[in-house]
Amino acid sequence: MRKLIVAGNWKMNKTLQEGIDLARAVNEKINGQKALVVLCTPFIHLSEVKKVITKSSLFLGAQNCSSKSAGAYTGETSASMIKSTGADYVIIGHSERRAYFKETDKTLNNKIRLALENELIPIYCCGEVLPEREAGKHFDVVQSQINEGLFSLSNKEFSKVVIAYEPVWAIGTGLNATPEQAQEMHAYIRDLIDDKYGKSVAGDTTIQYGGSCKPANAKELFAQPDVDGGLIGGASLSEEDFIAIVNSI
Ligand code: PGA
Repeated sequence: MRKLIVAGNWKMNKTLQEGIDLARAVNEKINGQKALVVLCTPFIHLSEVKKVITKSSLFLGAQNCSSKSAGAYTGETSASMIKSTGADYVIIGHSERRAYFKETDKTLNNKIRLALENELIPIYCCGEVLPEREAGKHFDVVQSQINEGLFSLSNKEFSKVVIAYEPVWAIGTGLNATPEQAQEMHAYIRDLIDDKYGKSVAGDTTIQYGGSCKPANAKELFAQPDVDGGLIGGASLSEEDFIAIVNSI
């Protein structure tokens, strides 16, 4: 069955103590919501945030993992290390990683494999930049990211993956995709999955929307038939806003 998932991506925000406080506040307010909720924290917060999670629908996630499994890679954090903190999810291929750290679809495919081998659920991000949308290339761009990043996975492997469609022009800009634009792309992604893995896998895949999702627009976005929750950046840093978004599912 398709899961509804709202994940907060804290990015490089919050000191350890601030992060623990935020996680504790979110944990307190989670109560019977339809969606699973994931807190994707910086690495250093993971094991401490894990300790304050008591609700069965609240999960822990990281924002990245290494494309190497272990060894002399100074500064890297492996999927197995992330798993050992009690995390269950990991964001892979966020547009900020693609743009600032030059992560390619091939590297991301390695990360996805390592995440899956270590029983982490990858949240694989895709999405076009503004000039690509303006040139009418957004479907091609997303198709290529999904094809190269994910479509070498087996049926069984793919069925564990969550996808986040995040138009880059909407991230942190206050300019969200309209519900129609989101629905159009999500339906397109689901069709791609259907072609590759069949109807049942496509129907079960969670496709989140991300990009300036806020309490004021979440309800409309989540009401779209192919939008199965959200990946929330800025608004996940405030407990009120984040919970309001979770409650709008
Ligand atoms: P935003 O970020 O909600 O601040 O636009 C979303 C994301 O980058 O995942």
